[in-house]
Amino acid sequence: MTTAAQLWTRLETLPRPTLGELFSAAREGGEGADEPGGADRVAMLSGRIELEEGGILFDWSKTHLDRAVVAGFEELAEAMDLAGMRTKLFGGEVVNPTEGRAADHATLRGTGEGAKVEEAMALIDRMGMLVEAIHQGALGEIEHLIHIGIGGSALGPALGVDALGRDLSYCDVHVVSNIDGVALEAAFAKCDPAKTLIAVASKTFTTIETMTNAASALKWLGDNGVSDPGGRVIALTANPEGAVEWGVDETRILPFQESVGGRYSIWSSIGFPIAMAVGMDDFRAMLAGAKAVDEHFRDTDGAANLVLRAAFADLYYTRVRGCQTRAVFAYDERLGLFPDYLQQLEMESNGKRVTAEMQPVDGPTAPITWGGVGTDAQHAVFQLLHQGTHLVPVDFIASIAPGDELDPAHHRILLMNCFAQGAALMAGKQGEDPARNYPGDRPSATILCDDLDAAALGALIAFHEHRVFASAVLMGINPFDQFGVELGKQMAKAIEQGGEEFDASTEALLDAAGLG
Ligand code: F6P
Repeated sequence: MTTAAQLWTRLETLPRPTLGELFSAAREGGEGADEPGGADRVAMLSGRIELEEGGILFDWSKTHLDRAVVAGFEELAEAMDLAGMRTKLFGGEVVNPTEGRAADHATLRGTGEGAKVEEAMALIDRMGMLVEAIHQGALGEIEHLIHIGIGGSALGPALGVDALGRDLSYCDVHVVSNIDGVALEAAFAKCDPAKTLIAVASKTFTTIETMTNAASALKWLGDNGVSDPGGRVIALTANPEGAVEWGVDETRILPFQESVGGRYSIWSSIGFPIAMAVGMDDFRAMLAGAKAVDEHFRDTDGAANLVLRAAFADLYYTRVRGCQTRAVFAYDERLGLFPDYLQQLEMESNGKRVTAEMQPVDGPTAPITWGGVGTDAQHAVFQLLHQGTHLVPVDFIASIAPGDELDPAHHRILLMNCFAQGAALMAGKQGEDPARNYPGDRPSATILCDDLDAAALGALIAFHEHRVFASAVLMGINPFDQFGVELGKQMAKAIEQGGEEFDASTEALLDAAGLG
């Protein structure tokens, strides 16, 4: 059997036709002669995932995937037992060997069956009851929610509320993550303490930023006339005992499972602020959209699996073409936080240097994910994409239905710009002089939602979760641990506790700030 290393070598030595060549009709004779060009290529490399209403188009035709590359990756997927790992993921088996854990985020959207799914559904029902009770006034008149959490306990809530809660919001949500008190003060300034609820979101219920912010939020309530600040706290955590110890009443703790990773926890009670803002129906629609992607990823073989195809392209650019970054541009104001969300999902999951077998990896792992919002980014960073020396694969994300009710010209111009950028990156243009030359042959993928509703948002997030998982399996790494973040935390603690000697540079900084 051909080994993964041999398959990588083979992928590296395949011919590298340009996008222009790939789009023209079949190359004459020899390798790739039967490669479909033009519209056939688009048909080969784009596909839809259908949701309950509408769906999402995933167009990978403007990438350098061709039949030979796809076939090479399909062989690699077999060699790395992608199908077996996927069965383990959805079957609730251990897929995070360093922590001996399953990764049960798909069960939270009702994918699969058995005790885990039932438990997840029961926890979501419990959250639903609390959300509805609060909306009906069980905790008094609540107009504001300050959601305190960080990393996976903040990025999903912030994205969900921003993407879905713009038109109608049952409750005004402020997500605060940074320990910098400026962030919490900014939220205080927008809230009436008498009508404010505090959600403390932390899987571990130990994270220093979150616990410090939570204590300050309670103090703010107390200092501003709220007689029982503790009664205004909802804890969202996989450590309910920790929350009880911290003083939260059990009736206001919404637990979730230890086997749900922080950056995969938007579907759990960590999504409480989204449900508070947009209501449980939309929250459940988000879960349903994610479930549709789970089923597509679980049940589709080979490159017809749109998630897997995206992972093939990602690895092709990172490992074969040496691209160090991947950019994501949302041509939709409501997805302004999506690149931030993906940064944690991709970089914390796959920014690894050893395999799941504890061997050094044999190539680069996660690219650096970055991006922004179109059209703004066109006027800021696209210069480098078009003419810089880096090759940056780009994802464009847009919605056919507008998010605004203004003159349709707004949305038309937005979409036309999005598509024009992909076309320009690919086609390039001969200039009158080198400064005006566009080399072209720059890849992009386009993800086009019929409408950016709750189901589509859920589907987009789940698509990227599985894309990260598929890439990890093909590289042989464990995407579900994150030991890399621990050392800095330990050092910060050591500085706080004092008594430890650091390097001269750090000592000088501590002295300069009066912390020495
Ligand atoms: O520091 C990284 C991290 O552990 C993330 O993985 C996690 O999402 C975040 O911190 C917050 O952790 P917690 O939810 O336990 O407060």
